[in-house]
Amino acid sequence: MLNEVNKSIMKGIATINFKGGVGKTTITWLLARYASEKRGKKILLIDTDAQMSLTTAAMAQKPFDLLVRDWYKDKHKGSAYTIANLIKSYSTNENKIQLLDPRSLIYPLTPSLSLIPSTEEMYGLEYNLEYQRNKYFFRDLIKKIGRKKTYDYIFFDCSPNFSPISCSVLNYASLYLVPVNPDPFGRLALKTMTNVLSKKIDQIKKKKFGVFMNKVNYFRNKPDRQASDNWTSLKAFKDYPKDIAIEFWNANIPDRAVIPRSIMSPTLLEAKNADPKIQSSINKLWDQLSGGASTDD
Ligand SMILES: Nc1ncnc2c1ncn2[C@@H]1O[C@H](COP(=O)(O)OP(=O)(O)OP(=O)(O)O)[C@@H](O)[C@H]1O
Ligand SMILES: [Mg+2]
Repeated sequence: MLNEVNKSIMKGIATINFKGGVGKTTITWLLARYASEKRGKKILLIDTDAQMSLTTAAMAQKPFDLLVRDWYKDKHKGSAYTIANLIKSYSTNENKIQLLDPRSLIYPLTPSLSLIPSTEEMYGLEYNLEYQRNKYFFRDLIKKIGRKKTYDYIFFDCSPNFSPISCSVLNYASLYLVPVNPDPFGRLALKTMTNVLSKKIDQIKKKKFGVFMNKVNYFRNKPDRQASDNWTSLKAFKDYPKDIAIEFWNANIPDRAVIPRSIMSPTLLEAKNADPKIQSSINKLWDQLSGGASTDD
């Protein structure tokens, strides 16, 4: 029996997999745009990865590219109001969020989609922080931002490793979105990650893991043999830690070259000849994560 997650607090969503390159950033970006554009939700995106992939995607969006770049260079990095500096000051100043107004970290991309960008300074930070000292950083930051009044969902893009920064994200978020690829390593990666998190994250019993496949090849309109075999073995595996709630969602995001291209030109996915499977799988994933549809079993 899965534990019940209170929907009213299921608003912080972390995309996580310790395995790199599975599509965390891509899915976070597609979902956030989908939720804000198609479902009328107010979304805050937080890039916590020093690779800055999500930040780069946001900066590439027309017609915002120049505006975001200017803001990023002058107001954000120029004024030193960056998430990295805030984390640094939090860890040295009795865990206080020192900025007068943390909203100055936030760049509005559209009226319903905003971003807290990452900076490359996050790289050095990860190695100098203490887990215990920083574990409630994001909880305290969001409290200060006043998320209840402002956003329906906060999406965090995490790096592919377990650092004090991702630990702090995971202590705050109540839903972990876990993309896996249909390859034989997915199951081991999921087992390892759930084992680590069940030991390191507070109140892990109250969190929900939503696992789904990304980069699925289709044959006759269904996931091909490799994808369906991997999915079956992922679901049948019995040795995930007992105290965590995992749901397996059959959204099956297809492997399509247009998906990477759409990061730079989002309208590609909406073109008349675009593959309807992409939209329908994102739609399904949204229904599953927002609690509007049943899980795979
Ligand atoms: N459904 C898809 N179809 C085709 N290509 C995809 C799909 N999803 C992701 N990709 C591509 O796979 C690569 C890795 O994706 P992405 O950067 O989103 O992964 P990630 O898990 O965030 O990586 P990292 O662990 O480095 O943060 C990128 O080139 C991306 O464009
Ligand atoms: Mg990424």
